[in-house]
Amino acid sequence: MEQHERTAVIDRIFTLFREKGSGAYFGEAVSETEHALQCANRAIDSGANAELVAAALLHDIGHLLHGLPEDIAEHGLDGRHEEAGSAWLARYFGSAVMDPVRLHVAAKRFLCSVEEGYYDGLSEVSQRSLELQGGLMSEDEIRRFQEEPWFNSAVSVRYWDDGAKVPNLEVPGLEHYRTILEDAISKRGQQ
Ligand SMILES: [Fe+2]
Ligand SMILES: [Fe+2]
Repeated sequence: MEQHERTAVIDRIFTLFREKGSGAYFGEAVSETEHALQCANRAIDSGANAELVAAALLHDIGHLLHGLPEDIAEHGLDGRHEEAGSAWLARYFGSAVMDPVRLHVAAKRFLCSVEEGYYDGLSEVSQRSLELQGGLMSEDEIRRFQEEPWFNSAVSVRYWDDGAKVPNLEVPGLEHYRTILEDAISKRGQQ
């Protein structure tokens, strides 16, 4: 992808956040954009590479593409935002970005199934949506999840996701991620 095409994709992503990201993040005390920026900032603090930071920033982009109501979890629906988001990202990014996004809901189900105390640490909204998302995993689902090449990355994104709901936290803004996203897009062909 040429430089000007990468710039256009990133501008499109930032526009999505600016135009659609100000709604509450699923009943939490932060907006979608604040949630994404906090999640990405945690990835940077953990020393993640460009693709994993991109995955953290973009893990819920499916919500913005959907245009579904913010309180969808309360309506007993699951928007399958991880599928919508990863399918859209696949046009521009490789598996190192797309797969953790696709698997971030499965990662929650996985952690609830295998990690003692994980469920108790989730926000109330996140606890409530677990059933809609398929509930606990069976042994077979756990095994298949662990066979996914990017499952570790998905689990990392999930931990950052869970912690990225702090009201009024000061973190770097969208433009901070421009070169990181460019880098992540450039690496698509190298996988
Ligand atoms: Fe999500
Ligand atoms: Fe999230």
